[in-house]
Amino acid sequence: MARGILRAAVSNLCLVLVLSLGAHAYGDPGKDLFDKQCSGCHSVGGGDGGGPDLKGVTDRRAEEWLESIIIEPDKMAKDAARQELIKKYGYEMPNLGISHDDALKIIAWLKSAGGGTAGGATPAAPQAKPVETVVTPELVAKGMALFTGARPFANGGSPCAACHPFRAPGVSGGNMATDLSDHYEGMGEQGLRGVLKSLKFPVMKKMYADRPLTEEESTAIVAFFKDAAAQKRGGWSFDIFPIAGAGFFVFCLAVLILYKRRTR
Ligand code: HEC
Ligand code: HEC
Repeated sequence: MARGILRAAVSNLCLVLVLSLGAHAYGDPGKDLFDKQCSGCHSVGGGDGGGPDLKGVTDRRAEEWLESIIIEPDKMAKDAARQELIKKYGYEMPNLGISHDDALKIIAWLKSAGGGTAGGATPAAPQAKPVETVVTPELVAKGMALFTGARPFANGGSPCAACHPFRAPGVSGGNMATDLSDHYEGMGEQGLRGVLKSLKFPVMKKMYADRPLTEEESTAIVAFFKDAAAQKRGGWSFDIFPIAGAGFFVFCLAVLILYKRRTR
C-alpha cells in the first residue's frame, strides 16, 4: 500500500518534471527577454538592424565578454572589439539594466538559436528583415506634429519636444534631454525604434511605459527623423543639382549637334 502511494508519487513527479521541461522548451525565458529587450535593435539571422545580427555570436565571443556587454555595456567601452563595433554601428549599445541571471538566460537562448555549438543547434527562426519606413510628406508632417505636441499621442504620452530639443524648421523643444536632430544618423531607423520600444532611459520609461506609442506613431516619428537627417545631408547635393542638370543638358546638345553633322 505504502509502496503503491510512493510509486504513484514518483511517477507523478516524473510527469510534472517532463511537463515543465516541455513547457520550458516552448516558453523559453531567454527568448522572451530577447524579444522584449533586444529585438528592437538585434535579430538572430535576420541581418543587421540598429545593432549587429547576433547569429553565431556565442561562437565569436567568450561567455564573460557576452555577459559584460549585456549587463554593463557602458563599463566596457574601452574594449578593443567593442571599439570596432561602436565605430561600425555609430553608437554604443545602452545599458538596459539586465540582471546577471537574465543575461545568462539570454545567452543560453542565443546559443541554441543562433548557431552555437555545431550539431545540436536548432536553426534560427528566420526573422523578417527589418522593414525600412518609406518617407512620405504626410508621414513626416504627422511625425513632426506628434513630436511637437500639435497632435496628441493616442495613449496620452507627452510630446517628445517636452524634453528634447530638435533643430528643424518649425520645431522648438525642451532642454531636459539631448538634442535629437543629430542622433538619427548614428542610430538609424532600427536604433530609434529600439529606443522607443525598449524605453531604456528611465525618464522616458516613466513617461511611456503606461502610455506607449502606437506602431503608426513610431513610424511617423521615424519618418520625421529620417526626413530631417536627409535634409541635413542633402544640403549641398540640392545646390549642385541644377549644375549637374545643366551639365547633362549641354551633353545632350553636343550629342545632338554631332549626330546632325554626321547625318548631313
Ligand atoms: C538601442 C539598441 C540596442 C538594444 C536595445 C540592444 N543592443 Fe546590443 N548592440 C547594439 C549596438 C549598436 C551594438 C554594437 C555597438 C556596441 O558594441 O555598443 C550592440 C552590440 C551587441 C553585442 C555584441 C555583438 C558582436 O557582434 O559582438 C551583443 C552580444 C549584444 N549587443 C547583445 C544585446 C542583447 C542581449 C540585448 C538585449 C538585452 C541588446 N543587445 C540590446 C544596440 C542595441
Ligand atoms: C519626459 C521627458 C522625455 C520625453 C517626453 C521624451 N524623452 Fe527621449 N529621452 C529623455 C531622456 C532624459 C533621455 C536620456 C538622456 C539624454 O539623452 O539626454 C532620452 C533619450 C532619448 C533618445 C536617445 C538619445 C541618445 O543619447 O542616444 C532618443 C532617440 C529619444 N530620447 C527619443 C525620444 C522620442 C522620439 C520621444 C517622443 C516619442 C521622446 N524621446 C520623449 C527624456 C524624454
